[in-house]
Amino acid sequence: MRTHYCGHVNRNHLGQSVTLCGWAHRRRDHGGVIFIDLRDREGVVQVVCDPSRIETFRAAERVRGEFVLKVEGRVRPRPEGTVNPHLPTGEIEVEVHTLEILNPSQTPPFLLEDENLSENVRLTHRYLDLRRPAMQANLKLRYTVAKTMRNFLDTRGFIEIETPMLTRSTPEGARDYLVPSRVHPGQFYALPQSPQLFKQLLMVSGFERYFQITKCFRDEDLRADRQPEFTQVDIETSFMSAAGIMDLVEEMIRQVFRSVLDVELPTPFPRLTYAEAMARFGSDKPDLRVSLELVELTDLMKDVEFKVFREAAAHPEGRVAALRVPEGGGLSRKEIDELTDFVKVYGAKGLAYIKVNNLAKGMEGLQSPILKFLPEQTVKAIMERTQASDGDLLFFGADKAKIVNDALGALRTRIGHARGLASAEWKPLWVVDFPMFEYDQEAGRWVALHHPFTSPADGHEDLLDSDPGKALSKAYDMVLNGWEIGGGSIRIHRQDVQSKVFDALNLGAQEAREKFGFLLDALQYGAPPHGGLAFGLDRLVALMARAESIRDVIAFPKTQRANDLMTQAPNTVSEGQLRELHIRLRQSVAEVQTPVGHPG
Ligand code: AMO
Ligand code: AMP
Repeated sequence: MRTHYCGHVNRNHLGQSVTLCGWAHRRRDHGGVIFIDLRDREGVVQVVCDPSRIETFRAAERVRGEFVLKVEGRVRPRPEGTVNPHLPTGEIEVEVHTLEILNPSQTPPFLLEDENLSENVRLTHRYLDLRRPAMQANLKLRYTVAKTMRNFLDTRGFIEIETPMLTRSTPEGARDYLVPSRVHPGQFYALPQSPQLFKQLLMVSGFERYFQITKCFRDEDLRADRQPEFTQVDIETSFMSAAGIMDLVEEMIRQVFRSVLDVELPTPFPRLTYAEAMARFGSDKPDLRVSLELVELTDLMKDVEFKVFREAAAHPEGRVAALRVPEGGGLSRKEIDELTDFVKVYGAKGLAYIKVNNLAKGMEGLQSPILKFLPEQTVKAIMERTQASDGDLLFFGADKAKIVNDALGALRTRIGHARGLASAEWKPLWVVDFPMFEYDQEAGRWVALHHPFTSPADGHEDLLDSDPGKALSKAYDMVLNGWEIGGGSIRIHRQDVQSKVFDALNLGAQEAREKFGFLLDALQYGAPPHGGLAFGLDRLVALMARAESIRDVIAFPKTQRANDLMTQAPNTVSEGQLRELHIRLRQSVAEVQTPVGHPG
């Protein structure tokens, strides 16, 4: 129907006749001449309808926002003074000879240019929201990133293999989405939380290099970087060391940034152990753009009078740490209170501070409600360790290490970004040497920090039963600007080791057999050493698009409450459907009906 895209017409087409199709972005009536900005996916061009062509002009008068049009006309230069240097088509306009309305449009519920739309409105009319150039750019970027990764893996000998969506539960730490079986009354499939077990089985089958760009499903608390269904670029190889795998996928990410954003990432990415990341940044996904670091004080606080610090320092899992805010002395009481409320979200009970007014004056030069409970020697040591200087402010966290890390870690990035202490560069890194397990207080048992198929580090096998908390794994996470964009590990390829890990997780032999018998069997038939990882495509693209949330790089995402506001999923189903699936609800269908359009 068209000869050119709207956004492609430029001075090279001067004098030519073109046929364009697109949407009426804006229509202006200028003293008898009608200007329409015609938009398609490639951009906008100005078309001009002159009253001398009566029929065309009449049609143009009926055009409103978002009407679908086909115009035919001649490209001419814009008159002197009306050239728009910001627009690729800004030097020309199209003098319309014929205009056809292909389809009218109702007045859209919002202006596409509106920058302050509520996300609920956008998601309810997502098909209109996606017309916006920013969203078009995001989805094109996503396509390009995925294509670049696919090409890279292809040239390295990886083949894409699909794995099932209707399957058994794979433990990745979230709840499963279940699908009831009609033919097997009372039985359910689980949607995959990841293709983890299948890709390992493909290694047992001898494919050696597998990848898949695939949907995963996790029923967990949603956040800006979490969706109930999301996309992994999932990779597995045999006969390759952890270092080999990390080098390979690092090269892939460098390639993606190079070809898509023209950005050169460092070679190699820095590598931090989990222990170091927690000690220095309070996080296993540190945002290295922020220069601030936590300072260890636990050892200094064992005998101080200040109970909060002393008890945290004495507790086996306790920690006392400081965060120095350069030139933070100017923070007001109100600002400090706000930050105190902020860390309370992470479980902190308070946020002690010392203002460093004048170091030369010793204790006199400091200002803090807690000074009277700290010996002068200790205060001096704090000043030395934190390298405090006049005008700084020190914040303190004292509690279980997990709380201190979460609270001061979050405070570090918040203050760093708010006070311009962050570089605007890309800061990728690897976090390595993760513990195998962490203790789940509620469940009263050890749980896998990654997943239960992760290999223990060399020489750490014996710790699995003697001291599971000390056992490290061969897991690695790739982190970019504070987001975990990928994670993986070398896997267990020996049945006896796998059984030991199940034991450590308190998974009885019978339960292990019931849940993972197929894996334990497969490991006995010549499973090769293997490993891999998975990238979160949504997160990677969101970072590259500089989007706030992964929702902005997903065509049809769900809200924080896992609703699709456009189709209004999830929804109730008929009694008949339920009966076929052998399901009786605990409440009647009428009772579970949620209000239509309920926001997420
Ligand atoms: P993991 O659970 O770390 O590992 O997931 C891999 C990557 O997927 C992304 N991701 C998510 N993205 C959006 N929404 C979610 N709810 C979500 N959950 C995870 C993250 C994460 O780094 N089978 C292993 C991989 C392996 O060991 O090979 C796995 O799934 O970017
Ligand atoms: P309090 O003794 O409760 O009056 O607290 C004195 C100061 O210590 C206040 O600034 C509190 O915000 C702070 N504080 C209290 N508990 C903690 C904690 N667990 N970690 C860090 N600071 C704390």
